Amino acid sequence: MEFTEVLSTHRKSDQERADVLANPGFGDFFTDHTAVIDWAANEDGRNGNWSNARIEPYGPIAMDPAASVLHYGQEIFEGLKAYRHADGSIWTFRPHANAARLNRSAERLALPTLDEEVFVESLRRLVKADVQWVPSGDGEALYLRPFMIATEAFLGVRAARQVSYRVIASPAGNYFGGELKPVGIWVSHNYARAGRGGTGAAKCGGNYAASLIAQLEAEENGCKQVLFLDPFNDEAVEELGGMNVFFVMKGGKLVTPRLTGTILEGVTRSSIIQLAKDRGLEVEERTITLGEWREGIASGYIEEVFACGTAAVITPIGVLKNGDEHIGDPDAPAGAVTMALRTELLGIQTGVIEDRHGWLEQL
Ligand code: COI
Repeated sequence: MEFTEVLSTHRKSDQERADVLANPGFGDFFTDHTAVIDWAANEDGRNGNWSNARIEPYGPIAMDPAASVLHYGQEIFEGLKAYRHADGSIWTFRPHANAARLNRSAERLALPTLDEEVFVESLRRLVKADVQWVPSGDGEALYLRPFMIATEAFLGVRAARQVSYRVIASPAGNYFGGELKPVGIWVSHNYARAGRGGTGAAKCGGNYAASLIAQLEAEENGCKQVLFLDPFNDEAVEELGGMNVFFVMKGGKLVTPRLTGTILEGVTRSSIIQLAKDRGLEVEERTITLGEWREGIASGYIEEVFACGTAAVITPIGVLKNGDEHIGDPDAPAGAVTMALRTELLGIQTGVIEDRHGWLEQL
Protein backbone atom coordinates (compact mmCIF):
# COMPACT_ATOMS: atom_id res chain seq x y z
CA MET A 1 0.00 0.00 0.00
CA GLU A 2 1.36 3.42 -0.99
CA PHE A 3 1.48 6.13 1.68
CA THR A 4 1.12 9.77 0.69
CA GLU A 5 2.86 12.34 2.83
CA VAL A 6 1.86 15.84 3.92
CA LEU A 7 4.59 17.11 6.22
CA SER A 8 3.80 19.49 9.06
CA THR A 9 4.40 23.19 8.61
CA HIS A 10 4.11 23.56 12.40
CA ARG A 11 6.84 21.20 13.60
CA LYS A 12 8.07 21.75 17.13
CA SER A 13 11.28 23.78 17.18
CA ASP A 14 14.66 22.13 17.70
CA GLN A 15 14.70 23.68 21.17
CA GLU A 16 11.24 22.35 22.12
CA ARG A 17 12.20 18.88 20.89
CA ALA A 18 15.52 18.98 22.73
CA ASP A 19 13.70 19.95 25.95
CA VAL A 20 11.34 16.99 25.59
CA LEU A 21 14.13 14.56 24.75
CA ALA A 22 16.12 15.74 27.77
CA ASN A 23 13.40 14.33 30.00
CA PRO A 24 10.77 12.43 28.01
CA GLY A 25 8.88 10.76 30.88
CA PHE A 26 6.10 8.57 29.50
CA GLY A 27 3.21 9.51 27.24
CA ASP A 28 3.18 13.27 27.74
CA PHE A 29 4.70 14.50 24.48
CA PHE A 30 3.96 13.63 20.87
CA THR A 31 5.89 13.92 17.65
CA ASP A 32 5.01 16.10 14.65
CA HIS A 33 3.22 13.49 12.51
CA THR A 34 0.74 10.67 12.54
CA ALA A 35 0.05 7.76 10.18
CA VAL A 36 -3.55 7.20 9.10
CA ILE A 37 -5.40 4.61 6.98
CA ASP A 38 -9.18 4.57 6.44
CA TRP A 39 -11.42 1.56 6.13
CA ALA A 40 -14.92 1.34 4.71
CA ALA A 41 -17.17 -1.71 4.58
CA ASN A 42 -18.66 -3.12 1.42
CA GLU A 43 -22.40 -3.58 0.97
CA ASP A 44 -22.31 -6.66 3.23
CA GLY A 45 -21.17 -4.43 6.12
CA ARG A 46 -18.51 -6.94 7.14
CA ASN A 47 -15.80 -7.07 4.51
CA GLY A 48 -14.24 -3.91 3.20
CA ASN A 49 -11.15 -2.11 2.02
CA TRP A 50 -8.34 -0.05 3.46
CA SER A 51 -7.47 3.11 1.53
CA ASN A 52 -5.89 6.54 1.68
CA ALA A 53 -2.77 5.57 3.64
CA ARG A 54 -1.02 8.77 4.62
CA ILE A 55 1.38 10.57 6.88
CA GLU A 56 -0.10 13.83 8.04
CA PRO A 57 0.65 16.50 10.65
CA TYR A 58 -0.13 15.46 14.24
CA GLY A 59 -3.29 17.16 15.48
CA PRO A 60 -6.86 16.74 16.73
CA ILE A 61 -9.08 14.25 14.89
CA ALA A 62 -12.27 15.68 13.42
CA MET A 63 -14.95 13.15 14.22
CA ASP A 64 -18.73 13.09 14.19
CA PRO A 65 -20.08 13.22 17.77
CA ALA A 66 -22.11 10.12 16.91
CA ALA A 67 -18.98 8.11 15.96
CA SER A 68 -19.49 4.71 17.52
CA VAL A 69 -16.09 4.64 19.27
CA LEU A 70 -17.38 7.51 21.42
CA HIS A 71 -20.45 5.56 22.52
CA TYR A 72 -19.66 1.86 22.42
CA GLY A 73 -15.89 1.91 22.74
CA GLN A 74 -15.13 -0.08 19.60
CA GLU A 75 -11.37 0.48 19.80
CA ILE A 76 -8.14 -1.50 19.94
CA PHE A 77 -4.50 -0.49 20.23
CA GLU A 78 -0.91 -1.69 20.30
CA GLY A 79 2.30 -0.53 21.93
CA LEU A 80 5.84 -1.00 20.62
CA LYS A 81 9.02 1.02 20.50
CA ALA A 82 11.61 2.35 18.05
CA TYR A 83 15.22 2.22 19.33
CA ARG A 84 18.16 4.31 18.14
CA HIS A 85 21.32 2.21 17.82
CA ALA A 86 24.82 3.59 18.28
CA ASP A 87 25.31 3.98 14.51
CA GLY A 88 22.15 6.11 14.29
CA SER A 89 20.03 3.41 12.64
CA ILE A 90 16.48 2.93 14.00
CA TRP A 91 15.03 -0.48 14.82
CA THR A 92 11.85 -1.89 16.23
CA PHE A 93 11.25 -5.09 18.16
CA ARG A 94 9.06 -7.97 16.92
CA PRO A 95 6.59 -5.73 15.06
CA HIS A 96 4.94 -8.74 13.40
CA ALA A 97 3.99 -10.03 16.85
CA ASN A 98 2.21 -6.74 17.51
CA ALA A 99 0.62 -6.81 14.07
CA ALA A 100 -0.69 -10.31 14.71
CA ARG A 101 -2.02 -9.32 18.13
CA LEU A 102 -3.71 -6.24 16.65
CA ASN A 103 -5.50 -8.55 14.26
CA ARG A 104 -6.55 -10.92 17.07
CA SER A 105 -7.90 -7.91 18.97
CA ALA A 106 -9.61 -6.66 15.80
CA GLU A 107 -11.40 -9.98 15.37
CA ARG A 108 -12.64 -9.90 18.97
CA LEU A 109 -13.85 -6.29 18.68
CA ALA A 110 -15.46 -6.81 15.25
CA LEU A 111 -12.99 -4.44 13.62
CA PRO A 112 -11.24 -5.09 10.28
CA THR A 113 -7.85 -6.77 10.21
CA LEU A 114 -4.84 -5.02 8.68
CA ASP A 115 -2.15 -6.63 6.55
CA GLU A 116 0.92 -7.17 8.76
CA GLU A 117 3.22 -5.60 6.18
CA VAL A 118 1.01 -2.49 6.02
CA PHE A 119 1.18 -2.28 9.83
CA VAL A 120 4.99 -2.38 9.74
CA GLU A 121 5.09 0.08 6.84
CA SER A 122 2.92 2.53 8.81
CA LEU A 123 5.52 2.45 11.61
CA ARG A 124 8.37 2.83 9.16
CA ARG A 125 6.80 5.83 7.43
CA LEU A 126 5.92 7.59 10.69
CA VAL A 127 9.37 7.03 12.19
CA LYS A 128 10.98 8.26 8.98
CA ALA A 129 8.99 11.52 9.20
CA ASP A 130 9.78 11.94 12.92
CA VAL A 131 13.23 10.37 13.11
CA GLN A 132 14.64 13.27 15.11
CA TRP A 133 12.26 12.35 17.93
CA VAL A 134 13.83 8.95 18.61
CA PRO A 135 15.72 9.38 21.91
CA SER A 136 19.14 7.87 22.52
CA GLY A 137 19.37 7.96 26.33
CA ASP A 138 19.72 4.88 28.50
CA GLY A 139 16.41 2.95 28.56
CA GLU A 140 14.76 5.48 26.26
CA ALA A 141 12.94 4.89 22.98
CA LEU A 142 10.21 6.29 20.78
CA TYR A 143 6.98 4.66 21.96
CA LEU A 144 4.70 3.84 19.01
CA ARG A 145 0.97 3.63 19.61
CA PRO A 146 -1.01 2.14 16.70
CA PHE A 147 -4.77 2.16 17.31
CA MET A 148 -8.01 1.51 15.48
CA ILE A 149 -11.29 3.32 16.09
CA ALA A 150 -14.85 2.99 14.82
CA THR A 151 -15.65 6.33 13.18
CA GLU A 152 -19.05 5.65 11.63
CA ALA A 153 -21.77 8.04 12.86
CA PHE A 154 -24.46 5.58 13.90
CA LEU A 155 -26.09 4.95 17.26
CA GLY A 156 -27.45 1.48 16.60
CA VAL A 157 -25.34 -1.14 18.31
CA ARG A 158 -23.51 -3.04 15.57
CA ALA A 159 -20.00 -3.23 14.14
CA ALA A 160 -19.10 0.09 12.53
CA ARG A 161 -18.77 0.30 8.77
CA GLN A 162 -16.20 3.07 8.87
CA VAL A 163 -12.97 2.70 10.75
CA SER A 164 -9.73 4.60 11.09
CA TYR A 165 -6.31 3.10 11.85
CA ARG A 166 -3.75 5.52 13.20
CA VAL A 167 -0.27 5.58 14.69
CA ILE A 168 1.04 8.24 17.02
CA ALA A 169 4.50 8.38 18.61
CA SER A 170 5.79 9.63 21.93
CA PRO A 171 9.38 9.76 23.23
CA ALA A 172 9.57 7.59 26.34
CA GLY A 173 11.81 7.03 29.33
CA ASN A 174 10.92 4.99 32.41
CA TYR A 175 7.15 4.34 32.53
CA PHE A 176 7.07 4.94 36.28
CA GLY A 177 9.18 8.10 36.06
CA GLY A 178 12.64 8.86 37.42
CA GLU A 179 15.20 6.13 38.06
CA LEU A 180 14.23 2.48 37.89
CA LYS A 181 13.29 1.18 41.34
CA PRO A 182 11.03 -1.56 42.71
CA VAL A 183 7.36 -0.59 42.65
CA GLY A 184 4.49 -1.39 45.00
CA ILE A 185 1.42 -3.24 43.73
CA TRP A 186 -2.10 -3.13 45.15
CA VAL A 187 -4.36 -6.21 45.03
CA SER A 188 -7.82 -5.43 43.68
CA HIS A 189 -10.53 -7.51 45.35
CA ASN A 190 -13.39 -5.19 44.45
CA TYR A 191 -12.89 -5.16 40.71
CA ALA A 192 -12.06 -7.72 38.02
CA ARG A 193 -10.41 -6.87 34.72
CA ALA A 194 -11.96 -9.53 32.51
CA GLY A 195 -14.28 -12.50 32.62
CA ARG A 196 -14.79 -15.73 30.69
CA GLY A 197 -15.69 -14.98 27.07
CA GLY A 198 -14.89 -11.31 27.60
CA THR A 199 -12.19 -9.17 26.05
CA GLY A 200 -9.34 -9.94 28.47
CA ALA A 201 -7.02 -11.30 25.78
CA ALA A 202 -7.66 -8.34 23.46
CA LYS A 203 -5.79 -5.08 23.69
CA CYS A 204 -8.81 -2.81 23.73
CA GLY A 205 -9.42 0.47 25.49
CA GLY A 206 -12.38 -0.97 27.39
CA ASN A 207 -10.12 -3.28 29.42
CA TYR A 208 -8.03 -0.33 30.50
CA ALA A 209 -11.10 1.84 31.20
CA ALA A 210 -12.41 -0.92 33.47
CA SER A 211 -9.09 -1.00 35.33
CA LEU A 212 -8.95 2.70 36.16
CA ILE A 213 -11.06 2.70 39.32
CA ALA A 214 -8.86 -0.08 40.70
CA GLN A 215 -5.76 1.86 39.60
CA LEU A 216 -7.06 4.86 41.59
CA GLU A 217 -7.47 2.59 44.60
CA ALA A 218 -3.87 1.44 44.12
CA GLU A 219 -2.57 4.99 43.97
CA GLU A 220 -4.56 5.96 47.08
CA ASN A 221 -2.72 3.15 48.79
CA GLY A 222 0.70 4.32 47.65
CA CYS A 223 1.07 1.76 44.83
CA LYS A 224 2.03 2.20 41.19
CA GLN A 225 -0.05 -0.61 39.69
CA VAL A 226 -3.02 -2.79 40.50
CA LEU A 227 -3.00 -6.60 40.46
CA PHE A 228 -6.10 -8.33 39.13
CA LEU A 229 -6.98 -11.81 40.34
CA ASP A 230 -9.12 -14.30 38.46
CA PRO A 231 -12.74 -13.18 38.59
CA PHE A 232 -14.02 -16.68 39.44
CA ASN A 233 -12.21 -17.42 42.69
CA ASP A 234 -10.47 -14.09 43.41
CA GLU A 235 -7.31 -16.10 44.02
CA ALA A 236 -5.24 -16.82 40.87
CA VAL A 237 -2.86 -14.04 39.83
CA GLU A 238 -3.76 -12.71 36.36
CA GLU A 239 -2.04 -9.49 35.37
CA LEU A 240 -1.44 -5.92 36.42
CA GLY A 241 -3.39 -2.94 35.09
CA GLY A 242 -1.03 -2.59 32.13
CA MET A 243 1.59 -5.33 32.38
CA ASN A 244 2.22 -9.06 32.87
CA VAL A 245 3.87 -10.49 35.97
CA PHE A 246 6.71 -13.00 36.59
CA PHE A 247 8.08 -14.76 39.68
CA VAL A 248 11.68 -15.91 40.07
CA MET A 249 11.77 -19.00 42.28
CA LYS A 250 14.70 -20.23 44.37
CA GLY A 251 17.11 -21.95 42.01
CA GLY A 252 16.19 -19.61 39.15
CA LYS A 253 12.95 -21.12 37.80
CA LEU A 254 10.52 -18.56 36.34
CA VAL A 255 6.76 -18.77 36.82
CA THR A 256 4.18 -16.62 35.02
CA PRO A 257 0.40 -16.99 34.86
CA ARG A 258 -0.67 -19.16 31.94
CA LEU A 259 -2.77 -17.55 29.23
CA THR A 260 -6.35 -18.34 30.10
CA GLY A 261 -8.18 -16.06 27.69
CA THR A 262 -8.54 -13.38 30.35
CA ILE A 263 -4.86 -12.35 30.21
CA LEU A 264 -3.13 -10.23 27.58
CA GLU A 265 -0.47 -12.15 25.66
CA GLY A 266 2.42 -9.72 26.06
CA VAL A 267 5.17 -9.58 23.44
CA THR A 268 7.61 -8.75 26.25
CA ARG A 269 6.20 -11.68 28.23
CA SER A 270 6.91 -14.16 25.43
CA SER A 271 10.38 -12.64 24.81
CA ILE A 272 11.28 -13.06 28.49
CA ILE A 273 10.17 -16.69 28.41
CA GLN A 274 12.53 -17.26 25.48
CA LEU A 275 15.46 -15.36 27.04
CA ALA A 276 15.05 -17.26 30.31
CA LYS A 277 15.02 -20.61 28.47
CA ASP A 278 18.13 -19.53 26.55
CA ARG A 279 19.84 -19.11 29.93
CA GLY A 280 18.91 -22.66 30.83
CA LEU A 281 16.21 -21.53 33.26
CA GLU A 282 13.04 -23.54 33.55
CA VAL A 283 9.88 -21.53 32.81
CA GLU A 284 6.43 -22.57 34.00
CA GLU A 285 3.28 -20.99 32.62
CA ARG A 286 0.77 -22.06 35.23
CA THR A 287 -1.72 -20.89 37.81
CA ILE A 288 -0.07 -19.07 40.68
CA THR A 289 -2.24 -17.89 43.53
CA LEU A 290 -2.13 -15.02 45.94
CA GLY A 291 -1.61 -17.64 48.66
CA GLU A 292 1.48 -19.01 46.90
CA TRP A 293 2.83 -15.45 46.53
CA ARG A 294 2.37 -14.89 50.28
CA GLU A 295 3.90 -18.22 51.33
CA GLY A 296 6.65 -18.04 48.71
CA ILE A 297 7.88 -14.68 49.95
CA ALA A 298 7.61 -15.77 53.60
CA SER A 299 9.56 -19.00 53.04
CA GLY A 300 12.08 -17.50 50.60
CA TYR A 301 10.88 -19.84 47.81
CA ILE A 302 9.92 -16.80 45.73
CA GLU A 303 13.03 -14.67 45.44
CA GLU A 304 12.00 -12.00 42.96
CA VAL A 305 8.84 -10.66 41.35
CA PHE A 306 8.71 -8.38 38.34
CA ALA A 307 6.29 -6.69 35.97
CA CYS A 308 6.85 -6.55 32.22
CA GLY A 309 5.44 -4.91 29.13
CA THR A 310 6.55 -2.71 26.27
CA ALA A 311 6.09 0.40 28.37
CA ALA A 312 7.35 -1.09 31.64
CA VAL A 313 10.14 -3.15 30.00
CA ILE A 314 11.03 -5.20 33.11
CA THR A 315 10.26 -3.43 36.37
CA PRO A 316 10.99 -5.04 39.74
CA ILE A 317 8.12 -5.38 42.20
CA GLY A 318 9.06 -4.61 45.80
CA VAL A 319 5.89 -5.10 47.79
CA LEU A 320 2.38 -6.43 47.21
CA LYS A 321 -0.21 -4.68 49.37
CA ASN A 322 -3.23 -6.84 50.07
CA GLY A 323 -5.30 -4.52 52.26
CA ASP A 324 -3.26 -4.09 55.43
CA GLU A 325 -1.11 -7.10 54.65
CA HIS A 326 2.26 -6.31 53.03
CA ILE A 327 3.94 -9.13 51.12
CA GLY A 328 7.59 -8.39 50.33
CA ASP A 329 9.85 -5.49 51.17
CA PRO A 330 9.38 -2.09 49.50
CA ASP A 331 13.03 -1.22 50.20
CA ALA A 332 14.61 -4.44 48.91
CA PRO A 333 16.91 -3.86 45.92
CA ALA A 334 15.93 -5.16 42.49
CA GLY A 335 16.67 -8.89 42.11
CA ALA A 336 19.65 -10.20 40.16
CA VAL A 337 17.65 -12.35 37.69
CA THR A 338 15.19 -9.50 37.09
CA MET A 339 18.00 -7.08 36.30
CA ALA A 340 19.95 -9.58 34.19
CA LEU A 341 16.88 -10.24 32.01
CA ARG A 342 16.19 -6.51 31.77
CA THR A 343 19.76 -5.77 30.72
CA GLU A 344 19.66 -8.52 28.12
CA LEU A 345 16.29 -7.51 26.68
CA LEU A 346 17.25 -3.84 26.48
CA GLY A 347 20.65 -4.81 25.11
CA ILE A 348 19.05 -6.71 22.23
CA GLN A 349 16.58 -3.91 21.58
CA THR A 350 19.27 -1.22 21.54
CA GLY A 351 21.72 -3.25 19.47
CA VAL A 352 24.44 -3.85 22.04
CA ILE A 353 23.69 -7.57 22.47
CA GLU A 354 23.41 -9.93 19.52
CA ASP A 355 19.85 -10.35 18.24
CA ARG A 356 20.09 -14.14 18.02
CA HIS A 357 16.34 -14.65 17.50
CA GLY A 358 16.04 -12.10 14.66
CA TRP A 359 13.58 -10.03 16.69
CA LEU A 360 14.72 -6.63 15.42
CA GLU A 361 13.44 -5.02 12.26
CA GLN A 362 15.03 -1.91 10.83
CA LEU A 363 12.66 1.01 10.30
C1 COI B 1 2.37 -1.15 26.71
O1 COI B 1 3.18 -1.63 27.51
O2 COI B 1 2.70 -0.86 25.57
C2 COI B 1 0.98 -0.89 27.08
O3 COI B 1 0.17 -0.74 26.23
C3 COI B 1 0.63 -0.76 28.50
C4 COI B 1 0.30 0.59 28.97
C5 COI B 1 0.44 0.59 30.45
C6 COI B 1 1.10 1.70 28.42
